[in-house]
Amino acid sequence: MKILVVGSGGREHTIIRKLKESPKVEKIFAAPGNGGISRDAECVNIGAMDKEGIAVFAKENEIDLVFVAPDDPLADGMVDTLTANGIRAFGPTANAAIIEGSKVFSKNLMKKYSIPTADYEVFDNPEKVMEYVESKGKYPVVIKADGLALGKGVIIAQNRDEAAAAVKEIMEDKKFGDSGNKVVVEEFLTGPEVSVLAFTDGKSLKPMVSSKDHKRAYDNDEGLNTGGMGTISPNPYYTDEISEICRKTIFEPTMAAMNSEGRTFKGCLYFGLMITPNGPKVIEYNARFGDPEAQVVLPRLKTDLVDIIEAVIDERLGELDIEWSDEATACVVMASGGYPLAYKKGLEISGLDENGQVGSATVYHAGTKYENGKFLTNGGRVLGITASGKTLDEALEKAYAAVDKISFEGAHFRRDIGKTK
Ligand code: AMP
Ligand code: GLY
Repeated sequence: MKILVVGSGGREHTIIRKLKESPKVEKIFAAPGNGGISRDAECVNIGAMDKEGIAVFAKENEIDLVFVAPDDPLADGMVDTLTANGIRAFGPTANAAIIEGSKVFSKNLMKKYSIPTADYEVFDNPEKVMEYVESKGKYPVVIKADGLALGKGVIIAQNRDEAAAAVKEIMEDKKFGDSGNKVVVEEFLTGPEVSVLAFTDGKSLKPMVSSKDHKRAYDNDEGLNTGGMGTISPNPYYTDEISEICRKTIFEPTMAAMNSEGRTFKGCLYFGLMITPNGPKVIEYNARFGDPEAQVVLPRLKTDLVDIIEAVIDERLGELDIEWSDEATACVVMASGGYPLAYKKGLEISGLDENGQVGSATVYHAGTKYENGKFLTNGGRVLGITASGKTLDEALEKAYAAVDKISFEGAHFRRDIGKTK
């Protein structure tokens, strides 16, 4: 098979490396890919949002399958366009990807179908938000832009002034454009966070092994929220008992709810959960693999990913037994100094071999380019160094040993992945 993976980050590199293990795969293309991906696949210069361009390329090159990995092209209907052109594509259609693309949609869905989540109100008027926040007088309060905002549209306001500043940024200054036309104001929940990704074809849903993201920029969960600074799998807080509760009260009901709404979800559905004192609740849904959750979950997959993708597309996932390794995995993200704010690009990375790898760990490239035999930084999150072991400690030790061999000017990473709640 010839497979095209759409996207250019660490998640896409992980997907590509997993696809390469399949005996069914003859050739992999990436659009647009990155420096590290170019060592594992043929990168083609088509943007991840260019659905017409992707469709034309897929037809001309007789691509058997397109894997649409990032949220924006999914929300924009890339899978719809490809399917309409007779091209097999993995990922939800736009009318199902809305579960991530609109927080107002997902909150209303959860309310309608009694899926546990934080209490909330929706507003389209900044004054009304502040009236509500002041009348409640309870802090912290969580303010979320309705639409996609590169993972930065959630503000946890500690007091009235912070809430007012968030509302101004989102609704008046339009920091995230039209994504801020509406906001969700949410009750602040506490407890450990768990990410659970699941394959679903709308008929059955198969949760993958659990993981835990570390979203804040600095150690001890300090600093700004990022796309994710590191992950571990399994998540130690996700017990068998909690997983059973999640299956019954969250996973299956979400699949059924989307079907009832005429928005059957096919692809990878991501449940961002919080294990609160009152049980597990949904913090957010994503319509895709997480990044860097994919980096610790997919390496544990023993079943051929191509078989799973085809079963999802053909709606026979229920027939498939999906197997996972018992090993633990850990991913440490090396980011550019300054990320998630401004950072430099084009800095030379040392310590990588000619394939962008480093011995005992796997280096998933998130933001690199490859020029004249050298890898250069080309993004905020640069590399995700992933290792596995019999225990989480062993995986962490191996990942950090590899991190210590890699360097670039201003490189920043957390030292406490796997150690915080
Ligand atoms: P999201 O982008 O929706 O995943 O939110 C980013 C982060 O904000 C989450 O990973 C949580 O740590 C935090 N967060 C979001 N919603 C809430 C909530 N209702 N209560 C507490 N923390 C939250
Ligand atoms: N790491 C969180 C996400 O992919 O949304």
